[in-house]
Amino acid sequence: MDYIQWSDNLSVGVQVFDEEHKNLVGFVNRLNNALTIGSAKKTMEEILSSLIRYTIIHFKHEEDYMALHGYPALEKHRAEHEALKAQVADFHERFVAGKTTFSLELMTFLRDWLTNHILGSDMAYRGFFNERGVQ
Ligand SMILES: [Fe+2]
Ligand SMILES: [Fe+2]
Repeated sequence: MDYIQWSDNLSVGVQVFDEEHKNLVGFVNRLNNALTIGSAKKTMEEILSSLIRYTIIHFKHEEDYMALHGYPALEKHRAEHEALKAQVADFHERFVAGKTTFSLELMTFLRDWLTNHILGSDMAYRGFFNERGVQ
């Protein structure tokens, strides 16, 4: 069973972003699987790095759409993305330095890091984009 179950309540009503969110969920689930089977640190680090790279692409994609359509809360949303990137970068840095290891607690952090943003600030753009025909 996946660590994070995708369900329609995570849908932000914009297909391209739903697909990207599913990929992000997939990275977190892969990390959890790797943790469960006791994978090597290098494997965990590679998945985490992929998650971070994909996150940067996804955040930029949302911000570009917001800028294109004049989303009023763009700057607030961008600031939230910056904070989320900083949090996961800090986690990555500590992991590489051996100051932390993956644990259930860290998986909980990653799950909340992702789903709270999707269910909160991302969900808030749903109506705005849908009104403009972006679905
Ligand atoms: Fe976002
Ligand atoms: Fe998002």
